[in-house]
Amino acid sequence: MSSITIQPASSIKGSIIVPGDKSISHRSIMLGAIANGVTTVRGFLRGEDNMSTMHAFRAMGVEIADDGETIEITGRGLHGLKEPGDVLDCGNSGTTIRLITGLLSGQSFFSVVTGDKYLRKRPMKRVVEPLSQMGAQITGRNGGTLAPLAINGGNLKGIRYQSPVSSAQIKSSIMLAALYAEGETSVTEPSLSRDHSERMFRYFGASLDVLSSGVTVRGGFELTAMEVNVPGDISSAAFFIVAALITPNSELLIKNVGVNPSRTGVIDILQAMGGDIQLVGSRELSGEPVADILVRSSSLKGVAISGSVVPRAIDEFPAICVAAARAEGITTIRDARELRVKETDRITAMAVNLRHLGIKVCETEDGMDITGSEQLLGGAVDSCGDHRIAMSMSVAALVAASAITISDVGCVATSFPTFFQLLEEVSVK
Ligand code: S3P
Repeated sequence: MSSITIQPASSIKGSIIVPGDKSISHRSIMLGAIANGVTTVRGFLRGEDNMSTMHAFRAMGVEIADDGETIEITGRGLHGLKEPGDVLDCGNSGTTIRLITGLLSGQSFFSVVTGDKYLRKRPMKRVVEPLSQMGAQITGRNGGTLAPLAINGGNLKGIRYQSPVSSAQIKSSIMLAALYAEGETSVTEPSLSRDHSERMFRYFGASLDVLSSGVTVRGGFELTAMEVNVPGDISSAAFFIVAALITPNSELLIKNVGVNPSRTGVIDILQAMGGDIQLVGSRELSGEPVADILVRSSSLKGVAISGSVVPRAIDEFPAICVAAARAEGITTIRDARELRVKETDRITAMAVNLRHLGIKVCETEDGMDITGSEQLLGGAVDSCGDHRIAMSMSVAALVAASAITISDVGCVATSFPTFFQLLEEVSVK
């Protein structure tokens, strides 16, 4: 797939809107599909990952109309999905496959889910195990731990599940199955992962309790169609936040970004590094906090990152690593083992790529140490087929001594199809 060459910039300037939140977009289709009535979604992210979710639900008989602005989902009620006639292809999307496996576990029909070569390597035991405990019959490659997965659902019973990792995909998969289970299902996790499912379940009228330690969902309650306004994705905004922080003489306003506290770890970390980031005009949209984000160039310093902030910033580490590469001193990242099982192993991918740019990086099993430098070299790096590695390397190029060529950047379309266009728009050469 194609490569791109990004030239250094003298500053980043302007006012932008980033595409809709990927996590919220997935959930709007899923809950809309099983609610009663017509759900309308504005600001939906039309990236490849979300289109995988949309296609999967169309294949289960759900009518979904898209006029280019608003998505209209005609809900089929809790028990109205149809057995798909073919394998459901989730593409590159971990959220699609793990959440849909939970939902399919509640259906009294047969289904098979799979994905691309990257997704077929990612761990599925983390959802297969709890869903099997609830009564779903799931088989798959490698003893049921890798996709394709075949699911015979129905007749679920509630469980109490203590997840060993903080993961919204695990939590949400179980919550979706719980809508169909007899009695109550509760999930706890070591520290809070993104809580979009909890918020959207409540918004659609599900019966649930959210406690500081986790969530309890009661089965058998129907959902009501809603109007969902999706805010901009903070994970997409993060690349532009880092771009404006590290490029001299920059000032950038990113409008209408979701600032749910379970997602704003990246802002906390970059502010602790000395980043000038302000949230302006905080408000609420469809049950989610939203604000405009104003960023100015800053001198960054290395920090220690570990503990409960890690799941709150889990998708932003590639961007944070680039900020660390430009910071004064050492940034240490720990408790971030989950990065090894994302679209690619993001610890190794970032370590290898930053070293190509002349940065000293020491990998540990659950993180890395990055020694910042005023000088990043130009050259060639590989995206490893991972959208966030490709975008973080593009941001690094803005402050490199010469251009950086990034290979295999087609993957950026999974979450941010307009990324390169927007980067070009705000880059002053
Ligand atoms: C997501 C949860 C996160 C995140 C992913 C989206 C979600 O994964 O990395 O991009 O929408 O639930 P984990 O829950 O596995 O950490």
